[in-house]
Amino acid sequence: MVDRRIRQELASTKKEKPAPDQLQFGKEFTDHMFIMDYTPNEGWHDARIVPYQNISIDPSAMVFHYGQSVFEGLKAYLSPEGEAQLFRPDINLKRINNSNERMCIPKIDEEFALDAMKELVALEKDWIPEAEGTSLYIRPFIISTEPFLGVAPSHNYKFIVILSPVGAYYKEGINPVKIAVENKYVRAVTGGTGEAKTGGNYASSLKAQEEANKNGYAQVLWLDGVEKEYIEEVGSMNVFFKINGEIVTPELNGSILEGVTRSTAIRLLEHWNYPVSERRVSMQEVYQAHQDGQLEEAFGTGTAAVVSPIGQLSWGDQHMVINEGQTGEVAKALYDNVTGIQYGTVEDPFGWIT
Ligand code: COI
Repeated sequence: MVDRRIRQELASTKKEKPAPDQLQFGKEFTDHMFIMDYTPNEGWHDARIVPYQNISIDPSAMVFHYGQSVFEGLKAYLSPEGEAQLFRPDINLKRINNSNERMCIPKIDEEFALDAMKELVALEKDWIPEAEGTSLYIRPFIISTEPFLGVAPSHNYKFIVILSPVGAYYKEGINPVKIAVENKYVRAVTGGTGEAKTGGNYASSLKAQEEANKNGYAQVLWLDGVEKEYIEEVGSMNVFFKINGEIVTPELNGSILEGVTRSTAIRLLEHWNYPVSERRVSMQEVYQAHQDGQLEEAFGTGTAAVVSPIGQLSWGDQHMVINEGQTGEVAKALYDNVTGIQYGTVEDPFGWIT
């Protein structure tokens, strides 16, 4: 039985809030955070909202050595009526438990975690920025804290939620970015941890990102880890293509993260009667479609950036300019409608807003 009480200790001084036009992604944090602890005897316990502060953890804590951890990302928005609202938070909480399962971390009570996030966001409502394209990013995460250097699942954990007022994730915003197809490094393989939201997946992606940046690209397009033939993700986002009128996105295969924005985009596109298909998409198919003049759009989807159009895709010596390097109509419609629903300016026919 979960103890549903959340103790509150309020900050005695409040931080200055950043100017809305200066907001970057994930650099500033609100006055409070949520924490609860896990031990085998007590389960998840001591749920509390406390002033945002450093945490003291033994240097031998397992998370520092073997990376047993999971995280999530979602956002709170201010509606035109001034209400704080969340977008499909239940999906993030289901996903953190799926990630927990993969990473041998004890599951959390999803309803309780949602209540905790709501309570924290309500307390920090003044931190939700109002300017267009801004929001309050919510970062729930779990770390393994047992002081032990053996390779085994930790016995102790902390679940923490921090909040960060954010602007656009990419400086380009909804403007198209240049992407390099990654032929050397891979992000994940079937049977690995690709579909879990765990820090290691992101750490191992940095080298490719760094090399792509050096060569003038914003991010890389990840191919499958075995044949290096099938497309998986773009940067830290899911990827979609419009080929001859059909919208295609790589099917979930165990190494692709099941994005909340991915499933939102698929649902909206079906609602708008686009033919949508989740299937294997090879790089050769995309290249051929471009050669045939049928590669109409390409874009990434994710919570942080929402939709990020791909204006150029480089595969070795082949530099494919897509939709004349402009934002396509599908990417634009998705961006406008997903953000419209999130901010409460577009009707929410699916009951996605909490
Ligand atoms: C997202 O697109 O929301 C991501 O996964 C990026 C995040 C790790 C900052």
